[in-house]
Amino acid sequence: MRRIAVVASLPILAFANGGAAAQDATLALGERIYLDKCEYCHGDGVQKGGTYVLQARYQDALPALLTERTDLAPEYISAVLRTWTNGMAPFRPTEISDTELEALVAFLTRNNE
Ligand code: HEC
Repeated sequence: MRRIAVVASLPILAFANGGAAAQDATLALGERIYLDKCEYCHGDGVQKGGTYVLQARYQDALPALLTERTDLAPEYISAVLRTWTNGMAPFRPTEISDTELEALVAFLTRNNE
């Protein structure tokens, strides 16, 4: 009886681990894209254009660094990336694919409440 119970629970555990691994892979991809395509404007330091503008706008009411924000909605990030015209050129799907965009959004919203 006991052995049957253990064997029966294995697929559930395997599924849970697979889900966590997929989530880790998505976040890793998102971070890679962030470092490659965003960090040079949104990284630490006011000499970075995005950080400079956001620091001036929020005056410490919100973090100037995107990686420290917990309030960015996924839809907002996607809209900024695809359509922004203020100081930040939009990224076309040939530059950041929809899958990469999803990973990037997952990375930037990972600490959201
Ligand atoms: C060429 C520099 C540059 C690059 C590259 C860049 N950004 Fe920006 N980003 C800016 C600037 C400047 C702003 C502020 C624009 C404004 O609102 O006037 C901004 C604003 C944003 C905002 C809005 C933040 C808010 O509080 O409203 C988000 C989200 C954002 N960027 C995400 C990204 C992501 C994700 C990437 C990488 C795929 C990226 N940006 C790449 C310069 C850049």
